[in-house]
This record gives sequence, C-alpha cells and structure tokens, in this order.
Amino acid sequence: MLKFNDFGRVEELATPFWYYDMDVFRKTVKLAASLSERYGIGAHYALKANVEPRLVSYIASKGFGADCVSGNEVKYAVESGFARSSIVFAGVGKSDKEISDALDLGIGCFNVESLMEMQVIDALAASKGVRANVSLRINPNIDAHTHRYVTTGLYENKFGISRHEFEAAIDILKGSKVLDFKGLHFHIGSQITDVESVYSLECERAAEIVEWFEAHGMDVGSIDLGGGLGVDYDEPDENPVPDFEKWFSIIDRKLRRRPEQSVSIEPGRSMVAQCGSLITRVLFVKSGETKTFLIMDAGMNDLIRPALYGAYHKIENLSAYYVSKSSSDEMKNIEATTSESVGSSAKFSSAETSESEDLTRHHQMPGRSWRAGEPCGDGKPVGKSSSDDRPGPGICESKYVEDAKAARSVRVWDRVPMKNMGRDRPLEKGVQGGLRLYDVVGPVCESSDVWGEGRELPYSKRGDILAIRSTGAYGSVMSSRYNLRDLAPAVFSDDMKLK
Ligand code: LLP
Repeated sequence: MLKFNDFGRVEELATPFWYYDMDVFRKTVKLAASLSERYGIGAHYALKANVEPRLVSYIASKGFGADCVSGNEVKYAVESGFARSSIVFAGVGKSDKEISDALDLGIGCFNVESLMEMQVIDALAASKGVRANVSLRINPNIDAHTHRYVTTGLYENKFGISRHEFEAAIDILKGSKVLDFKGLHFHIGSQITDVESVYSLECERAAEIVEWFEAHGMDVGSIDLGGGLGVDYDEPDENPVPDFEKWFSIIDRKLRRRPEQSVSIEPGRSMVAQCGSLITRVLFVKSGETKTFLIMDAGMNDLIRPALYGAYHKIENLSAYYVSKSSSDEMKNIEATTSESVGSSAKFSSAETSESEDLTRHHQMPGRSWRAGEPCGDGKPVGKSSSDDRPGPGICESKYVEDAKAARSVRVWDRVPMKNMGRDRPLEKGVQGGLRLYDVVGPVCESSDVWGEGRELPYSKRGDILAIRSTGAYGSVMSSRYNLRDLAPAVFSDDMKLK
C-alpha cells in the first residue's frame, strides 16, 4: 500500500494528481549513480520517461548525462542543468531545425539513426562552420522479450542503422570534414524483465559489431547500450527500486571492451516509475448487468499506458485502507450497532449499500478541497517563480499545469467537498475483508479508458481515493487534453510532509 503517515492531508487535495514519493525517487537515483561510478559505466537519463522539473534537476545534480529524443528535450536538458557535453540526441526523425539548434547548443553527440540523417547533420554543421560528434545507432536485431510496441531492436522496427548500410555509413563518415565519429549506440527495447538473457545477448552482439567497425578502420571510443531495465508493476512495494546491480554487473561481465572504451546506458523508466502514483477519486459506482464499475476522475488522457499497451498498474483503494485503519475503534462500535442491518461483507458480492444513501452522507460531510495553483504547505505560492520560467517551490510544479490552469473548470470536488469517514463505511476492517470485483474505469468517452478489469478491491464508494501505482514513468509525459480535460498537477511527498 502506498505509504502516508497523514492520509488526512491527501484527502484534502483536489484530484487527480501525480504523487511523487521523493524518498523512493532519491533512493533510486542515488543507487544508480553509485553503481555507475563503481562499475565505470556512464548513465544518461532518458528524459522522455518524466520531465518534472524537480525530478530532472535532481537527476542532473547527481552527475547523469541526458538522453534526448527531440529538440525540446535537448533544450530542456540544458535548462535543467545537464552538462551540454553529456547530452546525447537520438530519434529517427530529427528535423533540420532540431539538428541546427542542437549544433548551436554544442551537445555531446548525435545518435544517428539513418544515413540520410547523417548527411543532413554533415551539411548543416558544414554550413555553420562547426563540428558534430556522431555515434551510429545500430539495429542489432535482438528480441527484447517485451511488448511489441516497445521493442526497438528488431529488423522490423524503424530504429537504427542496419547491417547492410554499415559500409555506406563508414564512407560518409570518412568523406566528411566536420563529422567526428564517437562510437556505437544501441537501444533494443523497454520494460525488459528477462534481464540476464536479453542484456547478455545485447552485450555479445554489441561487441561483435564494435569489432566489425574497428576491423574496418573505425575507432569505436564509446559504446552506449541504451535503456530498458524493467520495473515490478505487480508489486511496487516489494521492489520499489529496480535491480540496477544486476544490469550493471551483466554489462561489466559480458561486454568485451578495451579499457579506453567508454560504456554507458540510458535508464528512463527504472529511474522514475516506482516513485510515482496517479491519485484519483471514485466519482460514481455503477452496477452494470454483469459487473460493477468504479468510475474514476482520472482518465486515459492522464495515463494512456493501459489503453495503449494493455499495461497493468496495481490499483489500491487508499481510503478503504487508511480510513479503516485509523477508525478501527470507531468502527467496532458501529459494528456492534449495525451488524444486523448490514450483514457480513461477502467476497465478490455486489455493493449492498445504496449509493443514493452514500451520496447524502457525503454531501453532509465537512471538508475542504485544495486546488493546484493555490498557496500550499509552506505558504509559498506555487507555479512560476518570479525570477525565471522554472516553477517555484510549491507542491504542484508541473509545467503542464500552467497550460491547464487557463482552461481549468470547476471541479466536482470543489462543489462537493468530501472527506471519507470510517463511519461511512460498512463492516470492513482494512483490506482483508469484503473484497469485491470491480472494473475500474475513467471518464473519457472511449471504451479503452479502463484502469483495470475485474480488480479485486475492498468495498469502494463515491469519494474514495485510489492510487494507480508505478506511474512515474511514461505517465504525465504522455498525458493529453483529450476531451478538453485538465492536465493533472504534481504533488511531492517532501512538500506535503506525507511521509
Ligand atoms: N534510450 C532510447 C533511445 C529510448 O528510445 C528509450 C525509450 C530509452 C533510452 C529509455 O528506455 P527505458 O529505460 O525507459 O525503458 N511509452 C512506453 C515506453 C517507450 C520507451 C521509448 N524509448 C511505455 O509507457 O512503456
């Protein structure tokens, strides 16, 4: 269960929001940084996984480089404090403007994905009278044993340069007056859980390709093996920090390399997935013909992974857990007085408490709501600081919020403040008793807007707060304003003193 020592403060917040457990985050980043140093394997954080300013600048401060896949990511990496020389720029479709801007910024290296791209970089650099470092992104034809949408290293994928173009690539490099060849880059896929076998194979294949290039007169100074380390979506509390040790040690053992060759990786998901949760409230409970739906206030526009990949995210009913926990004494009394009328909480039975009855209770409840953008916790204003464009130190620093604020409409929770009270819940003690099956869905007008089908959860009701776990990576960055919905702000455990 997501840890809070003051769940009451969570209940005061307007939902949905991205919650970041900063202890988990710092622990993860520090471990990756220390292993990087111990093994002498460099690490570029893949910004695409999460661009919350506070997370990104912390990662930059710990000595990571940046792996970018767009011109805006490159600029953002510079603004966030990454050394320009530590920025690598991959991506199959870099526009002329993106290349030109990156040349002006003097980034560390272009990871070139096609021969034509290399020619364009050559021409643009020559026209500016500057030099450009390039590495070749290679398609090694390796199956990463992951979802086919995040597999990138097979010949059928659009990424990287294939074997039949190696000679031509060398010709372009040798013929160029401004391109400096640095090395080879690989990235075979994401959410790799078959760590030992997949990365061993990648190391083996990479070494063969490096040797081939060296045999053809190219000095391969750097070998970048990309990202991809998977996280435990099933049990985030058991494995909050991914097995970086395993990843680094496999590379250390399995990659044949000369001492002067630098080796690096590009972790994205593994750095930020487990510290993040999407916090959302039950708007309505609805009995369908065959199932019971929990209709949440967060939708596929907030987190698209389940709809896009059929991705699994653990779902927890925080209200059922914390409220039951904190009011167990109170509940004992209620149990004594109401046991006859409510009866026992049968597993998987449909909710027997009338929803209209619940609603009435909620409307009568005291409570106040907190909105993103209002002064919070430390009393400092949130949002932009006066000195620059970077958000200030408040609890809702997401840059996305800025756009969303203008269009923010009155939220249900501003009109109907709710606070869950133990007495409102029928006879359930913690999550052990009274589990039921729910389809947890979002409000968006798409049938794929589903967080989980047939999820076993404690009896859940309007106003309950749920956590959708392991959403720190590829969550907020992939959000959209589909249906003109607001973008969810970020809340950090540090500011809320929630831990
Ligand atoms: N390097 C390159 C060149 C990449 O394309 C990626 C991710 C990474 C590094 C970082 O990979 P990671 O360590 O995060 O696995 N939206 C998908 C994931 C797409 C990953 C794209 N490339 C998802 O939600 O699962």
